Amino acid sequence: MKTQIESYRLMSNENPLGPSPKALSAIHSFSEKIHRYPGWVPKTLKEKLATLNAVSPENISVSSGSYELINLITRFLMNKNEEVLTFDNTFVAYYLSAKRNRRKCVISKMDSPHCNLKNLKSLQNEKTKAIFFANPNNPTGTIINHDSLRELLSTIPKTVFVVSDEAYIEYVTDVSYPDTIQLQKDFPNLIILRTFSKIYGLAGLRLGYGIASKEIVKKLDQVRILRSLNALAEKAGEAAIDDIEYVEISAKHNATERENMYREIASLGYNIIPSQANFLYLPFENNDRKNFIYKQLGDQGLMVCDLADFGHNKSLRISIGTIEANQKVIDCLGKLI
Ligand SMILES: Cc1ncc(COP(=O)(O)O)c(C=O)c1O
Repeated sequence: MKTQIESYRLMSNENPLGPSPKALSAIHSFSEKIHRYPGWVPKTLKEKLATLNAVSPENISVSSGSYELINLITRFLMNKNEEVLTFDNTFVAYYLSAKRNRRKCVISKMDSPHCNLKNLKSLQNEKTKAIFFANPNNPTGTIINHDSLRELLSTIPKTVFVVSDEAYIEYVTDVSYPDTIQLQKDFPNLIILRTFSKIYGLAGLRLGYGIASKEIVKKLDQVRILRSLNALAEKAGEAAIDDIEYVEISAKHNATERENMYREIASLGYNIIPSQANFLYLPFENNDRKNFIYKQLGDQGLMVCDLADFGHNKSLRISIGTIEANQKVIDCLGKLI
């Protein structure tokens, strides 16, 4: 009889420890009230997010996941002749949103796992309206540091939106990471995106937010679908912000496991990139080798992300999982070298 192999989801950068317990309990207690509409504006959630980030509630736009904000920016903050500028090896939603909204998307090629801002800047022209990047970058896990971002912002016209997608900010340990809240004071064209899908463990609820100038927030809030945010996400988000202990445990788990996995996999001889996020990026010498490793991991129930799905044939991205899952990845890779 064939034994059932347990499978481990290591392909979507979800929190392996599950949802925030406080968020779960808020969902349970609010579930009896879901026959009621949420308010027109998620007032308490906006206030809590404002306090968390030391800004005013008028600087917060809450959304149904970061995807919604990426879509709103490409659809409503630019017109059809204006262009999006982004990188080739970054989060695919920027390109896809531009395409869906029929905006031209100019792609800056990355010749390394790092987002090269000089190359990006050389492609900016009078039609560029929004620049998108993820920091830390998905899938490479690398960061743009504070000084480089400040330099970019100081050379970009203030009419161009610079969107810093900080979905993985809570996992960053590098002190050179930008303080974008501070930078926004000098550069009101900077839009910051955050999400509850990663460290808060609420990906299935679809909750994200943007931090931007009052003018930008007003525009975004005017064009979103009325009451697009569901009440359970709203209540869960409020509770998750208060779940400081859970965020700390999750960040600590990630930092320890990320360091261990990086060290072990590198010592096996694999090419692996140091990461500031909750995943690791492994570029292989060719597509066949990558396919082989992907298949072997899959046969052990280790479901990682084949970046061929996003146009990068030779690489895999492996989310940091539970201690057990991570050890299985290390053991499996050890047998394949
Ligand atoms: C850089 C980045 N931004 C945003 C998201 C998605 O966020 P949300 O679930 O809030 O739409 C992801 C998900 O993988 C991501 O990698």
